[in-house]
Amino acid sequence: MMTDHPTVFLHTYGCQMNVYDSELVGSLLTTDGFRLVSHPEAAQVILINTCAVRDHAEQRVLGRLNALGTLKRRRPGLLIGVLGCMAQRLGEELKNRAPAVDLVLGPDAYRRLPGLLRERLVSGATAAFCAGDPGETYGDVAPARGEGVNAFVAIMRGCNNFCTYCIVPYARGRERSRPPGELLDEIRRAVENGFHEITLLGQNVNSYRWDETDFSALLDRVAQIPGLRRLRFMTSHPRDLGERLIERLAGGGAICPSLHLPAQSGSDRVLEQMNRGYTRAQYLDKVRRLRERVPGLALTTDLLCGFPTESEADFEATLELMREAAFDDAFTFKYSPRPGTRAAKMKDDVPEAVKLQRLERMIALAREQADASRQRLLGETAEVLLEHPSPRDESEWTGRTRCGRVALAPGSFQRGAEVRIRVEAIRGFSLWGKPAAPNT
Ligand code: 5AD
Ligand code: SF4
Repeated sequence: MMTDHPTVFLHTYGCQMNVYDSELVGSLLTTDGFRLVSHPEAAQVILINTCAVRDHAEQRVLGRLNALGTLKRRRPGLLIGVLGCMAQRLGEELKNRAPAVDLVLGPDAYRRLPGLLRERLVSGATAAFCAGDPGETYGDVAPARGEGVNAFVAIMRGCNNFCTYCIVPYARGRERSRPPGELLDEIRRAVENGFHEITLLGQNVNSYRWDETDFSALLDRVAQIPGLRRLRFMTSHPRDLGERLIERLAGGGAICPSLHLPAQSGSDRVLEQMNRGYTRAQYLDKVRRLRERVPGLALTTDLLCGFPTESEADFEATLELMREAAFDDAFTFKYSPRPGTRAAKMKDDVPEAVKLQRLERMIALAREQADASRQRLLGETAEVLLEHPSPRDESEWTGRTRCGRVALAPGSFQRGAEVRIRVEAIRGFSLWGKPAAPNT
């Protein structure tokens, strides 16, 4: 027998876009009478929102589904649903790999989730895969956000870039932007609810377009929303990052001096094979413009090693690009072939041991650069938007600077308070400093 408010535990793997999607799913479910719970033990439904970008991410999900299969043998009524990119990529096939799964729903199919769950809770109907509507933007769904100071807002969905290594265009479908009016309403509501910092999300925010409104124009409108203190966005594609956007970053106001600009490789030959649409020189030229125009910018990147045909010289060109760009932080990955992509048809010819060794070298340099970037801030002042007491030491609060760096301030504050600190020390990966005078 079904209870009035079936309980759902929702676990999210992967990127910020998945976090946002889980907030949409939470909203769709609670609007339909389901109740979200914070532990899987008692839940009638367990949903896993998945990532398919790397093989490693999928293996983790399969491991988790295997464990849930054991749980289901003890609790036969339990429903297990797989959402997100891996659901879309594998579809029906997921049932063979994880027999305990009842529902498989891609990123454009979440509207069907409450109905499909109810059917199964009542009648135990058989497993289903659902791909959904390729034009879906969930424009009318108000994300169910937890408490915090930062809210994600997806301004677009999907990707048309087809970088040859990447599964996202297959898993998330074609690019579609949301209308500015709808976005402004969503952001205004979030700000009214205490989210002082907004991060606009898209696979490639630079290609946002709705009629005459491009991304720079959208930023201008969002930045004027009363009460909004900080505005960030990700991810920017280097090919599409233009002078107008650099000017917005330089202009300050609510727009924060932080930018995530994935380079992927420093070798022109590899960039071409990846279909990235820019050269090393073009990338570095944009970095030079950014550094000139946006002093204090925190520039982060994604880097991929071991792409098919990558030689030692190609890899060294990536390390050299890292040095020239002087990144403030870098997310580093070793290539894994994703079935169905163009690169997966190429021979995966860089031996695993070489990939691992290159990855370690990239990680070491990235760590060095991140350390140096924090050290440069010693003695500087920084404005910290405080989020919560530090989990390590309740007598301190943790938050982020305008550049997005984690910072600690001793004292007791309220969520959303903004303090100015002089950076006196680096504690682990965090800046530390006593607050001068509170701004709010
Ligand atoms: N293998 C390894 N890393 C990948 N990424 C995307 N596809 C792959 C793949 N097949 C990395 C890229 C991207 C980040 C989100 O994940 O660096 O920017
Ligand atoms: Fe993948 Fe390239 Fe699209 Fe980014 S821009 S999601 S790497 S295809």
